[in-house]
Amino acid sequence: MQQDAIHTFLQKLEESFQKGDFVKLTLSKSRSKKAELKNIFISPVKIKAGLVCNLVYRYPTRDITKNLTLEDTLSELRRALREDFSHADMYVTGKNLKLLISKKGQAKLLTRHIEVPAPVEFAHNRSKGRIIQTHNNTWLRQLGVVNANYEVRHEMKDKFLQINRYVELLEPEIQMLNNTKQLQVADMGSGKGYLTFALYDFLLNKTGNHPFVQGIEFREDLVDTCNSVAREASFKNLSFKQGSIEESGLPELDVLIALHACDTATDDAIYRGITANASLIVVAPCCHKQIRKDWLPAEQLKGVTRHGILDERQAELVTDALRALIMESRGYKTKVFEFIATGHTPKNIAIVGRKINKSTREKEKAMEEAGKLKELYGIKHHYLEQLLEQPL
Ligand SMILES: C[S@@+](CC[C@H](N)C(=O)[O-])C[C@H]1O[C@@H](n2cnc3c(N)ncnc32)[C@H](O)[C@@H]1O
Repeated sequence: MQQDAIHTFLQKLEESFQKGDFVKLTLSKSRSKKAELKNIFISPVKIKAGLVCNLVYRYPTRDITKNLTLEDTLSELRRALREDFSHADMYVTGKNLKLLISKKGQAKLLTRHIEVPAPVEFAHNRSKGRIIQTHNNTWLRQLGVVNANYEVRHEMKDKFLQINRYVELLEPEIQMLNNTKQLQVADMGSGKGYLTFALYDFLLNKTGNHPFVQGIEFREDLVDTCNSVAREASFKNLSFKQGSIEESGLPELDVLIALHACDTATDDAIYRGITANASLIVVAPCCHKQIRKDWLPAEQLKGVTRHGILDERQAELVTDALRALIMESRGYKTKVFEFIATGHTPKNIAIVGRKINKSTREKEKAMEEAGKLKELYGIKHHYLEQLLEQPL
């Protein structure tokens, strides 16, 4: 029974890979509660050597990526299903196959017919290793990132690198979302729209999703320009709306992003993401002024706070640590990391929150930790916390 179900599942992968209609496969449900390895995500990818499988090994604080031939992928899957995971979920065009292995080792295979987009072509077949292709790219040309020959303009090299880095960091998070529905995405404080366009381009052209993406931006001139570039690029489900993050009434969202929204605008954006029940929230905070105005750090921290620059940096760290904890207390699993070298931008910290099934105790624990941090720094309130306390 077990052998049959696992054998059939692997055979289906082999057939669909060879036919070119394999979309993605996820291994989940670790056999051991203590296991560090949480998931393996597998998708097809074209590299110079031909079509291979890209495997992303997800650990709590890092991802490890490998490209393997089909044969090696099949033996790695056999091993992982034996030793590490009890669920495997595979999408091929038109079908979803779920392999469930019980604690007693009984395996069963469930197949259902669904609408699945054409196979994705994730990563690695990128010109000069960049996820966003420059060739014939209308929006990059209209926004002045590339010249008329579609070469990156010298003065836009850092911006181009930043756009690519940001999409690269979103890629594994997006692979974990339900790709069978049209993703609803909002970009808060979209500015000139570099990132909004990049994300739309990536979702449409690399994942086969047909997302609805909306940028929210104060400045009317930027909104008008971005809407006209979206029309030129024939990005029909990408639009920009003039307005403030605070007042943007949003429907249910899958993804909320906010890159370098000033000061508490990042909190407004996170708040919007939480209340719109976003599965994924990604922010890269900008300046952090709010808590520094009225905090009173403990006497023991005087050695740090007496120096203006260290005080400022500490306020940034504490603000972002509290943001992450508050998101944790609302059911998000968070990661905080540098997404680009400081030489390209000093505002290089990203906070990524993915909504997961958290117990009430886990959420309370995050709030307790936030409380202790606030106490140490004599912080009366954090703006995000205040927003979440107000009635909806
Ligand atoms: C530093 S720019 C970043 C733009 C874009 N996210 C990027 O990274 O390229 C911040 C943008 O957010 C907009 N903004 C700041 N606070 C806002 C708010 N509360 N509501 C709407 N837009 C806001 C500003 O007008 C500006 O265009």
